[in-house]
Amino acid sequence: MCGIVGYVGERDALPIILQSLKRIEYRGYDSAGVACITDNGIEVYKDKGKVDDVIEKINYSKSISSNSGIGHCRWATHGAPSKTNAHPHLDGEGEIAVVHNGIIENFQSLKEELLSLGCTFVSETDTEVIPHLINHCLKNSGNVEWQLKEAVKETLSRLTGSYAIIVAAKGFDGLVAARKESPLIIGVGDRENFIASDVPAVLEQTNRVIYLDEGDLAVVKNDSVYIENGGAKVTRAERLISWTIEDAEKGGYEHFMLKEIHEEPKAITDTLRGYLTEDEITLGIDLGIEGDTKGKSILMLACGTSYYAALCGKHIIENLAKVPVQLELASEFNYSDFVLDGANVVVMAITQSGETADTLMALKKAKRYGCKTVAITNVVGSSATRIADETIYTGAGPEIGVAATKSFVAQLVIFYLLGLQKSLAKLPEAAFLEHLEELRRMPQIARLVLDEANGNIQKHARYLSKYDHAFFVGRGVNLPIALEGALKLKEISYIHAEGYAAGELKHGPFALLTEDTPVVAILTRQTLGKFDQNASQNIYEKMLGNVKEIKARGAPVIAIAEEGDEEVEKYVDAVIRVPGTGTIFSPIPNTVALHLLAYWTAKERGCEIDKPRNLAKSVTVE
Ligand code: M6R
Repeated sequence: MCGIVGYVGERDALPIILQSLKRIEYRGYDSAGVACITDNGIEVYKDKGKVDDVIEKINYSKSISSNSGIGHCRWATHGAPSKTNAHPHLDGEGEIAVVHNGIIENFQSLKEELLSLGCTFVSETDTEVIPHLINHCLKNSGNVEWQLKEAVKETLSRLTGSYAIIVAAKGFDGLVAARKESPLIIGVGDRENFIASDVPAVLEQTNRVIYLDEGDLAVVKNDSVYIENGGAKVTRAERLISWTIEDAEKGGYEHFMLKEIHEEPKAITDTLRGYLTEDEITLGIDLGIEGDTKGKSILMLACGTSYYAALCGKHIIENLAKVPVQLELASEFNYSDFVLDGANVVVMAITQSGETADTLMALKKAKRYGCKTVAITNVVGSSATRIADETIYTGAGPEIGVAATKSFVAQLVIFYLLGLQKSLAKLPEAAFLEHLEELRRMPQIARLVLDEANGNIQKHARYLSKYDHAFFVGRGVNLPIALEGALKLKEISYIHAEGYAAGELKHGPFALLTEDTPVVAILTRQTLGKFDQNASQNIYEKMLGNVKEIKARGAPVIAIAEEGDEEVEKYVDAVIRVPGTGTIFSPIPNTVALHLLAYWTAKERGCEIDKPRNLAKSVTVE
């Protein structure tokens, strides 16, 4: 995955492009580059490293007079991070520059064809075929704009794979952009326009945004935006973005991740706001399984953290609504002979970014089975929303840190709403209202963890940071939270962490337990007197049994336990306290605590938290 930006207007292009790139550096940060159109032709500056490294290498003393240009921040797919592989890429004459996000699957055969025509390639990338092909498709008739547009169209018709591209050319005072399976937006300004992979890139300049649709090609000049699709002119609505630039900035926190964990209460509130009135839940979509749900089921498809949210969602919906929920990793579903009854299964794709390639592919496959499809996503206008029949938006706001935090909590909220939705839920009125009351308490519960447990968590993070291996264990609705805790720890602190069902350790992983493998055990139970007491009590007792087994093998145990639970102290080495909730809601405080634990552990180890190595915010390749 990469980030691409473009600017055309009356101001100096270079600083605007660099600033925009910095805003979307979470999309890729192994190399960066810009190409500016000047009176002398195209000037390119690019290198390995982050945008700041590249800025340092640009010689500002040499003034670059340019009003249009393109930029790129890269997450390598074809060819290692290096100056030559960094974008923009040029044609042989240095007159056409291209930035690209996606993968050109047939680049090898195109490259061979172009080599046989005498082209010389300098990089190992798939992208480099694009400027060469555009050059070869240029006709010597019509004005420059028309020639370039038609050459880009012809080039795109030769490409298989996915792309969002921006093309700049010597002698043309605009940019040509196109997308297929990779996101692209246009920021509309006053006598200037912007192009980018994602909204934060342009937010500082404008809040007027056009989301390009699948297959769109746009010619963007300082005073016009022309869009066509399939050869015909189309109109795309302009939307006003309500996020402020502050929403997309760190707001005084050292890292986006810490800011975003602190925004978890707000993410819950904002997600509830759209769907929960006094005593009614209105998700505003037609699931197609309302009323008599007999014989109907839900299949959830997702990757990474979203998969763990979905696993938690399975517990929540099955518990509250008694509708069977199956779950598949999107990347596995795509290449399996999954048996799917399209008429009776609603497919839900859970994806924060709405751009994860595996999940989009899975959505398309589900549609081919004839399933009703629903996207649960945080990003308005993202690709998932265009593919799915219906969309439920989470209200987490922009999430910049690569580690998904507030978006995970917001996804859980959607599952509570789905589980409690009257049309699905089989709950008596009193229990329904009691659950609603509990759900409304969740922002406050999350805030209590942030306010009261944070200091204690930092202490335990210092301890955890000394180890190279850790286990996270839980049961039932908190097993996915243990998996999420482990993923978050390994992702940002590089400690090898495994999430496990507590009852499964004895079937193999016990062999790894020593005094050097701390185990984080989720031991929360329900608040006494609340619903579901028996099941909860049982799980708690089973967890205590598992903890005793772990301790007997010499491993230190850090428990996540409820305030007031004195019992747990007898069996563990350390306790992180969280407020008590109804059992089914305990994933919320437990998640906040584990996100903080991962954050402070990574901080203690001096890791680069917002941009962990080898990862990217949205993974738009398979
Ligand atoms: O945007 P998505 O929710 O589809 O992303 C799926 C995963 O790539 C993502 O959740 C990843 O696991 C997280 N960044 C981990 O924190």
